[in-house]
Amino acid sequence: MRPEIPIEPKPGWNRRHLLGLEELSADEITLILDTARSFKEVSTRDIKKVPALRGKVIVNMFVEPSTRTKTSFSLAAKRLSADTVDFSPSTSSLSKGETLKDTARNIEAMGVDIVIVRHWAPGVPLMLSNVLKASIINAGDGAHEHPTQGLLDIFTIRELKGRIRGLKVVILGDITHSRVARSNIWGLTKLGAHVTVCGPATLVPPFIEDLGVKVSHNVDEAIADADVINLLRIQMERQKANLFPSVREYSRIFGIDGERMKRTRKDVLIMHPGPINRGVEIAPDVADGEQSVILKQVTNGLAVRMAVLFLVAGVKELEGEERA
Ligand code: CP
Repeated sequence: MRPEIPIEPKPGWNRRHLLGLEELSADEITLILDTARSFKEVSTRDIKKVPALRGKVIVNMFVEPSTRTKTSFSLAAKRLSADTVDFSPSTSSLSKGETLKDTARNIEAMGVDIVIVRHWAPGVPLMLSNVLKASIINAGDGAHEHPTQGLLDIFTIRELKGRIRGLKVVILGDITHSRVARSNIWGLTKLGAHVTVCGPATLVPPFIEDLGVKVSHNVDEAIADADVINLLRIQMERQKANLFPSVREYSRIFGIDGERMKRTRKDVLIMHPGPINRGVEIAPDVADGEQSVILKQVTNGLAVRMAVLFLVAGVKELEGEERA
């Protein structure tokens, strides 16, 4: 018989917001991953929908471009039977000078339960969580955190490797400007993985060892015994100076191509949060190769985002009941 999706609030989760993985405990991260595993089954059904969030209203407020995260949150909300609204900054009154806080308050006044926000400025989700009654989910804030990307990466590793503890994970690329790197580091180290960050010295921030990771500037040494290599895009849009001589040189020294793959473990997972720059940090034959799990990450993102929406919505409901 098909297992039923539990729709009641989960013991062990009492957060209204998901702002980052820094503040979550290992148990809370594991609870999200386990909840996502139940929701993954929904996507295999003929009717890919459960009534868990019927009557809830969810707004996608993306003030920065997105393909994967925005679509995935939108689909996740629909699969949970919530009503969804997509907010586009270019056609909103933000373009007439309204502040983000005022815009968000006005949207909330229409009875919104959850606001999913992506913004180029670190701290915007935290700011909104202080001024709105709605639950806030961080869909990426500047170079700070991208918690659901970190969670879907960890979910994918756990699904394919069967564990996180003891695994060697290399995060390779532009670490300084990467919110994905930071969320992965918080989540993976809490669950017991050994994380190495690798990239040019100009793209690895000072004192990152304080987060419990190793630092390497030698790709071949770093990846030799890695279980997972998570590649990051060079974030030209966030760089304020030329931090490496040329894209061609970056690709030669730090890119992963077929030749370099011969010097990795046969069962290494190649991951990338996307969007990928083919021929820069990853060669096309590696991106499309047998070890690549890039599209599996995208698939798993849907289940992870269903789990996050379900968990934060449950807490909000309880608080409302307590107030009443
Ligand atoms: N990984 C990720 O955040 O992709 P998008 O920018 O397309 O959402």
